[in-house]
Amino acid sequence: MAETQRHPFLQGLSKHRGAPPTVVVIFGASGDLTARKLIPAVFNLSYDNLLPADFFLVGYGRKAIPDEEFRTLATDAIKEFSRRELNAEVWGRVAANTSYVAGGYDERAAFDRLAQHIAAIEKKIGREVQTLFYISTPPSVFGPILQNLGASGLASKYLGQAHHSKVIIEKPFGKDLKSAQELNKTIRSVLEEHQVYRIDHYLGKETVQDLLVQRFANSIFEPLWNRNFIDHVQITVAEEVGVGTRGGYYEQSGALRDMIQNHTMQLLALTAMEPPVSLDAEAVRDEKVKVLKAIQPLRLGAGGDVARAQYSEGMMGGKQAKGYLQEEGINPQSATETYAGIRLSINNWRWQGVPFYLRSGKRMARRVTEIAVQFKRPPGTLFAESDRFNLAPNTLAFQIQPDEGLSMILNGKVPGLETRTQPVKMNFRYSTTYGSNTPEAYERLVLDAMVGDGTLFIRGDEAETSWKLYTPVLEAWAAAGREGMDSYPVGSWGPANADALLAASKHTWRQP
Ligand code: NDP
Ligand code: BG6
Repeated sequence: MAETQRHPFLQGLSKHRGAPPTVVVIFGASGDLTARKLIPAVFNLSYDNLLPADFFLVGYGRKAIPDEEFRTLATDAIKEFSRRELNAEVWGRVAANTSYVAGGYDERAAFDRLAQHIAAIEKKIGREVQTLFYISTPPSVFGPILQNLGASGLASKYLGQAHHSKVIIEKPFGKDLKSAQELNKTIRSVLEEHQVYRIDHYLGKETVQDLLVQRFANSIFEPLWNRNFIDHVQITVAEEVGVGTRGGYYEQSGALRDMIQNHTMQLLALTAMEPPVSLDAEAVRDEKVKVLKAIQPLRLGAGGDVARAQYSEGMMGGKQAKGYLQEEGINPQSATETYAGIRLSINNWRWQGVPFYLRSGKRMARRVTEIAVQFKRPPGTLFAESDRFNLAPNTLAFQIQPDEGLSMILNGKVPGLETRTQPVKMNFRYSTTYGSNTPEAYERLVLDAMVGDGTLFIRGDEAETSWKLYTPVLEAWAAAGREGMDSYPVGSWGPANADALLAASKHTWRQP
């Protein structure tokens, strides 16, 4: 079977085959993300023949790990976490070019050693390489790593016309507006914006990319995509998992920082932005920033636009489950929200008067990420809601995950001599159309960074614009402590105070 026939992901990837010789350096290579996502992504890219012929993987971290041990760790990670089973031949090609450099993140001399290591690779293959640095450490060392990349000259390495040193930066990108601005300042002191790839892994999800295609490759949506036809939009990012072993991180974060400010806002931006003039990274990101800037400041206090809550103990999946305050590593008096609900108004020509509702929570009824666009009801002159006419508002729902797809709720006639109506669902599922085994977000993102396509990454001003909206909320919540914190039982669809956000407009949350 031709390579491009194996999965639709491989079609149209011709530009991705043009990556020059590349060294990917992972800072924090002994960590969780490297094992769960990055190594499996590299393996699957290799499987799909999307890595350049001269591809090298270098792990970097404080603990000295012999090359052989790092290769074993990587092999184990593929066995445990890859969507495809380990293929010894495919992985062997990458493993042969995999090594490890030990050093501190703030240790200037170690970065010189890293530079020498890369120079040795270049000498071995007799060509220059582009360097892609993946910062996969806790954010406390993002700054020192960036500074050392600058001081050692690694950040300014230049290869030909198009490929420079590139840096992928993991989330969280700051914890509020000020810290995001400071991080951007550090970045700008060593890198140009086009060298920087700020990760939001939601942008790498197949269905999120499909959102752009659905919106702009179909003519039926655009005429309806505005305040004249759309009643409101609901964006749900619900998780079944709790904080697990990440209590230490989560206590400093909470749902607003962890999910709303980044992932959920990206979904909103792609749903609400104007059509970009091209699919070029700058054109798309310009439109995202424009729509983010049109969002009205959030109203705080009673009757305001924000709701927060923590999950409380209860039954989930037939088992008794802990509440957030009983979880390991959590302060029993914690004021960190595990759920955030938001009502947004976008004050532009297209969206004025259309509420956008956002919610994200842990330990909810089921894992689902969905964008639901609810259209206005038709005039009830012919079919008005009654015993015979069961009518639902037309709703277009993009199911981002799991069971990826797109559905449309329409009203139809129930077969029979009497005219009765009921809502029916038109359903498109990825699994039935394309089969399963969809590429992971990190595969797309690592590949895009390697070929220099920043479309699916966050630009500096985009991150700041989103933080600008949410920083006053975070400050108000920090000042209020636990006051105003609601709760929701594990396995439910969220707290009452989030229902109240919608009630004023006689809306209710969907149960997707
Ligand atoms: P880890 O806590 O596993 O840390 C990664 C590595 O960084 C460690 O193996 C360690 O390597 C080094 N490290 C750990 N703590 C410190 C510290 N206090 N100071 C300096 N170095 C430290 O992180 P993850 O791999 O889970 O996450 C990495 C990045 O990715 C983070 O920014 C995280 O927010 C982000 N992320 C992670 C996700 C995940 O699922 N894990 C999901 C989304 C984003 P060594 O000791 O060898 O130097
Ligand atoms: C991460 C958050 O960014 O996204 C986690 O830090 C969350 O708390 C995760 O669980 C969800 O990602 P996904 O891809 O499983 O929806």
